[in-house]
Amino acid sequence: MASTGISLVILVSYIFFVATNCDAAGLSTTHYSKTCPSVSAVVTQEVTKILNKNKNLAGALVRLPFHDCWVNGCDGSVLLSGSQVERAANANFMLRGFTEIDQIKTAVETKCPQTVSCADIIALAARDAVVLTGGKSWSVPLGRRDSRRSVASDADAVLPFPVLTFDQLVQNFAAKGFNSREMVVLSGSHTIGRTHCNGIAPNLYNFTGQDGLTNPNLDPAFAASLKQKCPKENKVNIVFMDKTKNTFDLDYYKQVLAKKGAFTTDDALITTPAGLNAVKSLVKPGSSFFSEFATAMNKMSKLSPLTGSAGEIRKQCQFVN
Ligand code: HEM
Ligand SMILES: *[C@@H]1O[C@H](CO)[C@@H](O)[C@H](O)[C@H]1NC(C)=O
Repeated sequence: MASTGISLVILVSYIFFVATNCDAAGLSTTHYSKTCPSVSAVVTQEVTKILNKNKNLAGALVRLPFHDCWVNGCDGSVLLSGSQVERAANANFMLRGFTEIDQIKTAVETKCPQTVSCADIIALAARDAVVLTGGKSWSVPLGRRDSRRSVASDADAVLPFPVLTFDQLVQNFAAKGFNSREMVVLSGSHTIGRTHCNGIAPNLYNFTGQDGLTNPNLDPAFAASLKQKCPKENKVNIVFMDKTKNTFDLDYYKQVLAKKGAFTTDDALITTPAGLNAVKSLVKPGSSFFSEFATAMNKMSKLSPLTGSAGEIRKQCQFVN
């Protein structure tokens, strides 16, 4: 009887330990507490240096986890170099941040050689970039491992293109377990960073696949100014995503509400009652956007990671070992 009691206590303590430190995906906020306790501080230090040099790189670091995690989970696959890798996919047009992730990885390797995955670094760096531009922090459970697979067609099959309708966006996010509100909240990341004309052109010159058609929902003066920045056929001019390009704030939703969404998918957020209501509630002063965004990013960071002995801890983020 006594030993059954003791076993029960041990079992309950074990369950409590697992429940408090690990999550369903097998990640844990204490994953590196013995092997690399300074990892989070080192990443923050490097991201701070990177953004002090060029604040617009926050956009690079925040886009990366979305493009990593959506494609076969948060496994660092988006970072690999080579031909026909994810980076080469159309959906990853102008993805950046690779040298910055390398810089962070080098600093982490100096402290803790071959211990911390590139997938974990992507997750931590995005959190720091949001915080350093004015957003709210979230906890980043760790223990992801890096994949050896990176295939362009995997990315194009699942990442959303900027021409989708509201319903198509809802479907795209539902496939990863996110509801329409979370889709609108995560789109709020476009409050920082930049785009190239490539993503805007369909909204200006080929709306719903009709040659020459401008999205009729856009504010006409805004459409005209975008056309000046992005002449027809131009793919590479740079346009900032909102007026406060390096500040994580509500300006993106304000622009969307004012019919000044750069992508068809930005404007799509106000084309249904559900989307419009979500944007209106998120744009209010004192809105819950910042905490909802943090929660959604924490959730995204847990999309089917490789754990245990799956995958590897890459030595260099752009190359398999
Ligand atoms: C809702 C569907 C989405 C679509 C269609 C979309 C599409 C795009 C496109 C076309 C660009 C411009 C890339 C370039 O030309 O340089 C971009 C930039 C960006 N996206 Fe999204 N995106 C979506 C959702 C998200 C989500 C969920 C996140 C992160 C949580 C995100 C974060 C970013 C950031 C931070 C940038 C700026 C990148 C930079 O400054 O280099 N996007 N997005
Ligand atoms: C316009 O969009 C349609 C449908 O996506 C596409 O087939 C066509 O090539 C596009 N036209 C131009 C000029 O890009």
